[in-house]
Amino acid sequence: MNYTFFLGTNPLLSASEVAAYLARHNTAYSVLRITNSYMRISADALPEHIGDELGGTIRIAQDVTQWNHMPEAEEIVVALSPLPDKWVMGLSVLSGSTSVKKLAISIKKAAKAQNSKLSFIEPKGSSLNAAQVLFNRLLHEPNMDLSIIRIAETYILIKTIHMQNIADYELRDTSRPVRDARVGLLPPKLAQIMINLSQPKTDTVIYDPFCGMGTILQEAWLMGFSAVGSDLSERMITATGKNLDYLTQQFPVIKDIRPEAFLHDVKEVFPENLTEKNISIVTEPFLGTPLTHPLSSPEIEIFHNTIINLYTLFFQNIRKVLRPGANLLILLPCPKGADGFTPLPRSFIDEITAIGYRKKQLVPEAIASHFPAGSSDTVLYARPDALVAREVTLWETV
Ligand SMILES: C[S@@+](CC[C@H](N)C(=O)[O-])C[C@H]1O[C@@H](n2cnc3c(N)ncnc32)[C@H](O)[C@@H]1O
Repeated sequence: MNYTFFLGTNPLLSASEVAAYLARHNTAYSVLRITNSYMRISADALPEHIGDELGGTIRIAQDVTQWNHMPEAEEIVVALSPLPDKWVMGLSVLSGSTSVKKLAISIKKAAKAQNSKLSFIEPKGSSLNAAQVLFNRLLHEPNMDLSIIRIAETYILIKTIHMQNIADYELRDTSRPVRDARVGLLPPKLAQIMINLSQPKTDTVIYDPFCGMGTILQEAWLMGFSAVGSDLSERMITATGKNLDYLTQQFPVIKDIRPEAFLHDVKEVFPENLTEKNISIVTEPFLGTPLTHPLSSPEIEIFHNTIINLYTLFFQNIRKVLRPGANLLILLPCPKGADGFTPLPRSFIDEITAIGYRKKQLVPEAIASHFPAGSSDTVLYARPDALVAREVTLWETV
């Protein structure tokens, strides 16, 4: 079966997440094609919860059939037959100049000739948005959300099998009892991407030593992982507690082992009992004091030095409680300067390597080969108006 994953705002990161997720679930697959909006793969089947657990994939569809020309309404009806008595269809044509409305009216007519009553939902943009798909219950049989994508001279009819649940994300983000924009608002989707890219195993305990308001703990818990967090600030530990209490009220959390959060400064030695656990670090650390303007070169140097001092101590201290081969997925701040976002200098990577770490390739080769050479060396996550980008990095203890 062929599947199409519609990727979020950072296609390289999203495609890498899909690859990491499939590898963790031992799903054999081959990549058919990756563009800036989607990734197509061939696999026997997909893991059961993949749609809910990928932060970087907006929609997943599976192939219905294909033609070597733009299909006529009658051909689409034949491909979908036998038709239900009454159904609702979303339809998008993702390439070419075909009028979706005209095509849908013809499909409606052809369906009527088969005694099938069809209502059509017109896309608001190039394809139906999540609200349209979810509100109109298009993922519930006999309804369908269909799209036609064109690759060279092949027109492929695909059917949505999963759509990111916007209402759920809202509950896990803006509706939480404690939020604080000054501390930094890690989007739950990015937290999911980070957890998946950290390549956790079933017995892994996800540890966030800069847990803030607990977004990573929350998402790890929802994905069924044991998780633990700590933070320098007592206020943040209370915030994490309140947000996790709220989570149990809103979601059936799979594991009843609730994540714990404790007070700890990463500049200090970590509690020894952490060595008993098979820990992976997944964290968005302190990313520097929020900026109000792009920085000059001397300002960037000061910014970087503050971060380097803190992170070097963190890497030194945490090393003592990590097992060999433990993974660390860490976001590093890249402040905006005159020449764009500026990653931490190479000397920082060398310093961390000397402590007993190896920087791992974040983007698998099978994904990197579909992107322009060099674009996968540094993977940045940033909103268009951001003054600090997050560089996504993966490390391993040696
Ligand atoms: C960017 S926020 C993390 C946000 C978090 N990912 C979330 O979603 O809420 C960084 C956190 O690091 C904490 N922090 C700063 N310096 C620290 C230190 N030396 N040790 C431990 N935590 C520290 C801050 O209190 C803050 O909560």
